Amino acid sequence: MTIVTTDTSLLSRTGTGLPGDRPQEAVATNTHGLHMITWGCQMNVYDSARMTDVLRPLGYGPVDSPADADMIILNTCHIRDRAAEKVFSELGRLRLIKEERQATGQKTVIAVAGCVAQAEGEQILARAPYVDIVLGPQTYHRLPEMVARAARAGGAVIDTDFPAEQKFDFLPENAAPQTVGNYTAFLTIQEGCDKFCSFCVVPYTRGAEASRPVASILAEARRMTESGVREITLLGQNVNAWHGEAPDGSIWGLARLAEALAMLPGLQRIRYTTSHPRDMDDALIAAHRDIPALMPFLHLPVQSGSDKILKAMNRGHTADEYRDLIRRLRDARPDLALSSDFIVGHPGESDEDFEATMQLIRDVGFALSYSFKYSPRPGTPAAGAPLQIAEDVKDARLQALQALLREQQDAFNESVVGLTVPVLFTGTGRKPGQIAGRSPWLQPVHVDGPESLIGTEVPVLLTTRLSNSLSGTLTQEFARI
Ligand code: 5AD
Ligand code: SF4
Repeated sequence: MTIVTTDTSLLSRTGTGLPGDRPQEAVATNTHGLHMITWGCQMNVYDSARMTDVLRPLGYGPVDSPADADMIILNTCHIRDRAAEKVFSELGRLRLIKEERQATGQKTVIAVAGCVAQAEGEQILARAPYVDIVLGPQTYHRLPEMVARAARAGGAVIDTDFPAEQKFDFLPENAAPQTVGNYTAFLTIQEGCDKFCSFCVVPYTRGAEASRPVASILAEARRMTESGVREITLLGQNVNAWHGEAPDGSIWGLARLAEALAMLPGLQRIRYTTSHPRDMDDALIAAHRDIPALMPFLHLPVQSGSDKILKAMNRGHTADEYRDLIRRLRDARPDLALSSDFIVGHPGESDEDFEATMQLIRDVGFALSYSFKYSPRPGTPAAGAPLQIAEDVKDARLQALQALLREQQDAFNESVVGLTVPVLFTGTGRKPGQIAGRSPWLQPVHVDGPESLIGTEVPVLLTTRLSNSLSGTLTQEFARI
């Protein structure tokens, strides 16, 4: 596992090995070629799959190369620095492809989707007039209509409203679930954020918190498990703020949803990300005690360990409240491993504030973490705040923080060596004869073993810690299968 990233433009989850850290390019062929380039978080990966779904009835199917594509969608991320510049440089490349295709009489529709589109739609059309469609994350269900309008008008179409209707209600049921391998899948249950942390663009790009209703989540989860999915990760910018309406009109929280999902035949593992400490209620803590399928790994960003900076960030809790929350979670589920996000160099962060963050890390102990230098996002309160921190100070703090986090990650991985734990195998390993999967704590694990075990969860004795993964051996009964 890679623990930390200073990449300032992507909301990357390099540590999980889940999609989201690199442009994901689509595979397969169809009548009208669709080439999707996805940057950013798992929410974007999920949205790209949904956009592919809504375009399928129009005859669009994924192609590998943009040169074969009648439509190219760039699904963007705005969370940290240089996002817009990256988009423009990618668009420059796509423009050449569009021109080359035009020379041979082929049309190419270029669409920019995602959070950069939401935040900078007008600028995109001004600087890159060859872009045909700009659409914000709330408007993907209108994509077919926009494609038709772009074709008719020949001019650019922009749609970055936050419509009153929720996009969840309009997206088609996806035939093939968005799977990683075939046995793990993401399922978006919540969108947007009302928390307005001082540094963050999400409330502006993704809009207010919106929860998907229970019935549609359960229906999608059922389709996933029926097609072989064994692990579902529930997604949301503020996933534990989810409050969905059930068919009887009652409102469920995430704990109740996890309980219902755990009853689905075939579903062995449930995860959720990303959570906010403020929304970690007693029922959800108890769910970690009561639902074995809820994996003992929780991504719970804290950002800072200084009360002064937490207040400036508008996080709504103190460092001790976070410590107390972790204590209650660990009481409920003693083997729970924690991961977090940290920002160094938020405006006003003194040496003492930074030291308070280091102390919080020492006190809690994280299995995995993501750490970033603060980067001002235009329009957010912190961007205009006084006492911005010099780059070299941010660099030094980030280095110290990452060294400590790396130590903790290594220590955590070392601590599981010698244990026999269930591993869900999802594919073959790098070397012939190997199969690979994940531990309950999201660690990549590989063993020598038969491919027939792929798609199943079996006990593995963890024997060796490698730099970012673990190797192990199957217990004898499984080794023979
Ligand atoms: N600067 C640096 N890091 C940021 N993040 C969000 N906005 C910024 C910013 N302006 C980080 C936070 C968040 C993660 C997804 O990205 O740590 O939890
Ligand atoms: Fe951004 Fe804060 Fe909302 Fe997370 S909780 S998405 S950091 S505003």
